[in-house]
Parts: sequence; structure tokens; C-alpha cells
Amino acid sequence: MTDTRTFYDTVAEDYAAHFRDFLADWPLERAILAAYAEQVGPGGTVADLGCGPGEVTAHLAGLGLSVFGLDLSESMIAIARREHPALRFEQGSMRELSMADGSLAGVVSWYSSIHTPLDELPALFAEFHRVLAPGGRLLLAFQVGDVPLRLERPWGRDVALDHHRRRPEQMAELLSDAGFALRSSTVREPEEARGASLVPQAFLLAQKEG
Ligand SMILES: C[S@@+](CC[C@H](N)C(=O)[O-])C[C@H]1O[C@@H](n2cnc3c(N)ncnc32)[C@H](O)[C@@H]1O
Repeated sequence: MTDTRTFYDTVAEDYAAHFRDFLADWPLERAILAAYAEQVGPGGTVADLGCGPGEVTAHLAGLGLSVFGLDLSESMIAIARREHPALRFEQGSMRELSMADGSLAGVVSWYSSIHTPLDELPALFAEFHRVLAPGGRLLLAFQVGDVPLRLERPWGRDVALDHHRRRPEQMAELLSDAGFALRSSTVREPEEARGASLVPQAFLLAQKEG
């Protein structure tokens, strides 16, 4: 996690500038977020875990959700607070959440599980499950593939980090093992935008059973 925090602290401003308003380019992603917001419904609290600069947090707030963001990187949190002053953002690790059991209506992990090694995903999903209320909704976004992308010197900065890619079936099985029912699995085929890596992108919607 130290490597991940250092990486994102170093590139936070570059990342935020590069991906500013990125959802404007992606109608399918907006549709998935809209479906998720409708499924969660008004009332309960949603946590955007690994929120980065808070673009998705703000989008979900715009869809009527009561949402806050959490990120490992202090620099990312500083940007999120600066860009979205009306919203709540906290620094912390999604692997050890301070929220009480069953206290959330929704958890979003939008490309934030991609730095968690495979053998640590069961504990991560168990933590998501713990903080969700019965029937609570999880949205997971990640790149599809088998081989991690090692990103070296992004934006010329002196850092490197593995970005894990996963198979949707593999993630669905891990979610099932953690006590989630899979509600939908969507894969968008590769499409060039802002130099994003040309691999399929997966979006899983799941629900805490019970
Ligand atoms: C690829 S970025 C995605 C950011 C944001 N969700 C977005 O779509 O723009 C991954 C983010 O996850 C955060 N992250 C990675 N591991 C984390 C952890 N264990 N706890 C909290 N945040 C984490 C990183 O700091 C980084 O901001």
C-alpha cells in the first residue's frame, strides 16, 4: 500500500488534470452509474472507495446519492476537496474501514481494487461486505485481462506501479465467496480515449445477500 500511496501522491495533479470530466466521454459508464444510483435509491449513505480526485463521487452526488469519498492518497483527497468543496472526502484505506458493520447503502470501487494483489482481494471484499447493510449495493470497475500493466514514469514522474487486470468471472466468484449476489456483469470493448489503455473494461453490480 505504501507504493500505491506514493505513486498517487506523486501523480495526483497530473492524474486529475488528465481525467478531468472523463465521464463526459463515456455514455456506457454514465448509464451504469445511473443504474447503480437508481438501485441504491435515496436515503442511505454510499462510499466511493479509492475516489481519487472525486469525479465519480461528484457524479453520483449529482444523481441524488448521499455519497462521500475515501482515498489512500492525501494528495488525491486534497484535490477532491478543492474540486468538490460541497462533498465530504476522507483519507484512509479501504482495506480497513472505520465505518460500523452494516452502515452503508452502497460501496463503489471504481478502478481502485486494481492495486490489490489477488490473494488480498478476499479480505477486501469481506470488508466491503461488512460495512454494507443487508441488500446494500456494490459497484466494481476494473480493466479486463490476465497480465498486470506496470506503469513506469507516468507523466515523467519517477514512480512505477502494477495495475492488475482481472477476468469478470474470477471477480464474480470472489464476490460470491464474500457473500455477494452478482446482479450484472458488463464488459465494454476497447475504445481509444485520452490515451487510456486499450483493454476491455468491466463493471460488476452486486448486492449483499440477506
Ligand atoms: C486508478 S485510480 C482511480 C481513482 C478514481 N476512482 C477514478 O476513477 O478516477 C485508483 C485510486 O485508488 C486509490 N487506492 C488504491 N488502493 C487503495 C486503498 N487500499 N484504500 C483507498 N484507496 C486506494 C488510489 O490512491 C487511487 O486514487
